[in-house]
Amino acid sequence: MFITTKLWNTHHNPSLVETELKDSLKSLRTDYVDLCLIHWPIALQDQDMSGKTILPLNADGKGIPAEHAIEDVWKAMKECLKAGLTRNIGLSNFNKKQVDRIMKICTIKPSNMQVEVSPYFSNNQILDHCRQLGMTLTAYAPLGAPNRPWRESEEPNVFEEQVLKDIATAKGKTIAQVILRFHIQRGLVVIPKSITASRIKENIQIFDFTLTNDEMSKIAGINKNLRVFKNSLMANHKEYPFNEPF
Ligand SMILES: NC(=O)c1ccc[n+]([C@@H]2O[C@H](COP(=O)([O-])OP(=O)(O)OC[C@H]3O[C@@H](n4cnc5c(N)ncnc54)[C@H](OP(=O)(O)O)[C@@H]3O)[C@@H](O)[C@H]2O)c1
Repeated sequence: MFITTKLWNTHHNPSLVETELKDSLKSLRTDYVDLCLIHWPIALQDQDMSGKTILPLNADGKGIPAEHAIEDVWKAMKECLKAGLTRNIGLSNFNKKQVDRIMKICTIKPSNMQVEVSPYFSNNQILDHCRQLGMTLTAYAPLGAPNRPWRESEEPNVFEEQVLKDIATAKGKTIAQVILRFHIQRGLVVIPKSITASRIKENIQIFDFTLTNDEMSKIAGINKNLRVFKNSLMANHKEYPFNEPF
């Protein structure tokens, strides 16, 4: 078991960071986690721990920002590590400039970066950057979140991709297994989510086969730079990460 939790945007006030992590530990019934990430580089209006308001919105339906610098949030994360509440601290959804700002001020480096990666979204540049900085890399929504409610009708579904169907047939594996194997052979940690027992088992049975270089290249070739977690309700925020090339 490797347990990860994340600090939410409404708890970026440095005085709330430890409180939120302790609240998560209570929910998880554990004394510490293996990893705690800053979920987004976006500070939203402070909220208590009741969970009543996850996304405070203004009259225009946009997230209400708060003035907490990401550098200060990182310093508060470091205090949580020093207090033994988490064994590692890391980042999620930060762009290169934001990662570099953390690197400039940190005394403890981020150990992990969690970003969206799927066969349609290789996200290579930020992965390469963080790899060079010595971070482990996690692919979230590794199956492309095929059942997301906000999916546009014209957006493709990886489970209908012929390249993946052909490789899955040749390997005697499912499309999901081929996708997950593809990611781990790229050196990524994968966190597919499923509420279906048979799929949870299926998704872990990926260590008994290997994709060839040719198969890896074919899958890499279906990349469409299709990001599906855009979080546009936060797009007005000065730290919104996805206005940069990466
Ligand atoms: N850091 C971030 O900002 C961020 C953002 C988004 C997600 N995440 C993390 O990433 C994890 C996964 O993301 P996600 O759930 O959005 O996307 P995902 O793992 O790519 O896709 C999950 C969907 O795929 C289905 N599925 C799972 N295994 C399958 C299989 N073997 N065959 C066919 N369908 C399968 C699931 O259905 P069933 O559940 O019905 O089986 C579910 O609908 C989450 O647990 C979350 O913690 C992080």
